[in-house]
Amino acid sequence: MTPIRRTFIATCAAAALAVSTGAALAQARDVKLGYALAVNSHFGAGAKAWSDSVEKSTNQAFKFNHFPSSALGGERELIEGLQLGTVEAVIVSTGALSNFVPDVGAVDIPFLFRDTAHARAVLDGKFGQDLLAKFRARGLIALAWGEQGFRHLTNNKRAVAKPEDLKGLKIRVTENPVHITAFRTLGASPTPMSWPEVIGALQQGTIDGQENPISVIVSAKLWQVQKYMTLTSHVYAPMALIVSPGFWNTLNDAQKAAFTEGARTGALASRQFVDEVEKKGVEEIKSHGMQVVTEVDRAAFKAAMAPAYKQYATKFGQKTLDDIGSAK
Ligand code: PAF
Repeated sequence: MTPIRRTFIATCAAAALAVSTGAALAQARDVKLGYALAVNSHFGAGAKAWSDSVEKSTNQAFKFNHFPSSALGGERELIEGLQLGTVEAVIVSTGALSNFVPDVGAVDIPFLFRDTAHARAVLDGKFGQDLLAKFRARGLIALAWGEQGFRHLTNNKRAVAKPEDLKGLKIRVTENPVHITAFRTLGASPTPMSWPEVIGALQQGTIDGQENPISVIVSAKLWQVQKYMTLTSHVYAPMALIVSPGFWNTLNDAQKAAFTEGARTGALASRQFVDEVEKKGVEEIKSHGMQVVTEVDRAAFKAAMAPAYKQYATKFGQKTLDDIGSAK
């Protein structure tokens, strides 16, 4: 090939690339993606993997704009935003979700899952996938289950080791009826509150404590406002990757598949992030001066919750709870 011909081909290829990129950029649709924690958290990891995957697989037909750290409001506002169509995509905990999709409350029941593998198997299996499908009837398109980890207790009053130690403690819980029932049954004073208000309330002492997974405690640097932590592992905390139905209905089948596949990639990234942060998180929390109670009689906490389990069985059906509990 002559040098002139080579230059001509290279110039044509560059021009074609510029045109196709330009065309893609010109058409790129903005996707607002909101979540509660910082970019360098399990939420941020899931959000990045989700958006990178969709942008790549659709040849940049979409451009994600991230709104981390509750920039669009608390999780209730994010979910309402999906229904109203003011935000296209969110990643939220199950904290406020069961107010929208009541059946989600079943996975929020304390001591239901034996361990992380059990929780992941249930959520990735028929039960979890059927649960995702139930979001549609509530005006939400849920695509995958990501993860936060098991929730633990923190507080400023005392080292909690047994259920009696919780008596009278004002514990912030999510706006979640299952969690409220659990902490009330244990004798604490549960205070439902949106996450963006929690740090201020802990600073001012209007609440004594809160409960969240290690991933959240580390991301939010809760050692700045909390003295004690107890490794209660009282409840598994998933998170859901959800899209607005108004936006979803404008997508073609290939784009829907790209969002679904991307959400699964994001969910996996959040789980991998949690696996990592859980390896060294407790040491980090201790290194910042928090006193961590590691010896916890979980059986005693579970036993103290017996009246709550009666209520959960009435609400969700004993069979559902048994099926989840006995899943391999
Ligand atoms: O406790 C909560 O509200 C949630 O776990 C949080 C911190 C918003 C993360 O989703």
